Amino acid sequence: MNIRKLTGNLSKRFSKLQKIQRFFIFLLASLAITFLWVVPAFTQQPVTISVMIQTLEGTQWQPIVQGFNESHDNIRLEIIKGPNDTNLVEDLYTSAFLLGDAPYDLAYMDIVWVPKFAAAGWLQPIDEYIETSEVDLSEYLNGDINGGTYNGSLYRMPFRSDGGMLYYRTDLLQQGGYEPPETFTELMQISQDLQDQGIADWGYVWQGKQYEGMSAMFVEILEGHGAYWIDPETREVGLDRPEAIAAAEFLYQTIQDGISPPGVTTYAEEETRRLFQNTDTVFLRNWPYVYPLAQDSEISGQFAIKPMVHEPQDSSGACQGGWGLGMVATTSHPDEAWEVIQYFNQPDVQRQFFLETGYVPARKSLFNDPELVAQYSYYPDLLNVVENSALRPPIAQYAQASDILQRYLSAVITGEMTPEAAMTAAARETRSVLGS
Ligand code: GLC
Repeated sequence: MNIRKLTGNLSKRFSKLQKIQRFFIFLLASLAITFLWVVPAFTQQPVTISVMIQTLEGTQWQPIVQGFNESHDNIRLEIIKGPNDTNLVEDLYTSAFLLGDAPYDLAYMDIVWVPKFAAAGWLQPIDEYIETSEVDLSEYLNGDINGGTYNGSLYRMPFRSDGGMLYYRTDLLQQGGYEPPETFTELMQISQDLQDQGIADWGYVWQGKQYEGMSAMFVEILEGHGAYWIDPETREVGLDRPEAIAAAEFLYQTIQDGISPPGVTTYAEEETRRLFQNTDTVFLRNWPYVYPLAQDSEISGQFAIKPMVHEPQDSSGACQGGWGLGMVATTSHPDEAWEVIQYFNQPDVQRQFFLETGYVPARKSLFNDPELVAQYSYYPDLLNVVENSALRPPIAQYAQASDILQRYLSAVITGEMTPEAAMTAAARETRSVLGS
């Protein structure tokens, strides 16, 4: 075999080998693509984003959750239902965060939890996400944005606002020839008279159970008496001032005079709503969520709402409430959690939710939205009420301060302590918690 033939053969073999090699490289690359991208795309489980919420509202969230899950193949929003009392849900979140590795990616938060959760490092700020998104915070009520802000960063995206209102039975007032009351004294007199005449079973129901709802309710009684709880700027405690003692005295008196049933000392929002719906009770203090539920009850068309009563020289104040979503610091899926927050931010999603539930929007434009106003004619007035609402002190020690207030108020309304002794002790303990 001459040299030329030999090199010819060798080069043929070599190019055959190259072809085989190329074929294997191609095969390996195809397999890699299939296993790295194609197979996972078909078999990948969606990321689950979990959030805990009060049972009542969790049920009302169902259409939103379904809408989200149907439009997001890669994420599954999972709702964990908790108790209805806000502080019990707060306790569950708190213990999960303290134990570490919390099973939640988002926290659905009451406005009063934010300073504590943020100060403890349990949440991550969402400012950077907001900057690079379509979310426009100026579309929301100031109170709700401020309530979600701690040390200059936003930790909670508002979803719904809230404000305490006075519900009254239009039919009962009419029977007695009364206009809705403006002052505490009028509320007491009308109640007493309608009860004496046998027109009403009870005069006034309110939340007197020892829980957060009691503090929220009391903020309105304080405001109407020109009193205050804690000044957030100076951290001065006002509970032992004469006006605050008078506010506690008012609550005690409603039970003493038989205007409020003795059971109010154990009632949260839902118990008072049921009593208002099922008996002839003239007045109820509650949040706007009650409106559509009561419209669906025996008293449908026979009640209305107005701002809370006050002393003649002072003004009415609705307690600022409200809920929104915060991102849990330990979530492994912050981007997906943000997707959920963005979905809840959509005006259409919100409109549908408020149409169905009658909660108070946090987005300003919805108060004058034609569809919503057609259903809830009081929405435009509600905007004014929530824009001028009274705050519970936005401080990191809020939960402790609220516990103290609840404990001593409870002692007042159950007759264990005089308003003066109880409020003096509450002020002293609160000052010691605040270190002032
Ligand atoms: C409502 C309010 C919330 C408040 C709670 C008290 O849910 O929105 O802010 O703390 O009632 O029960």
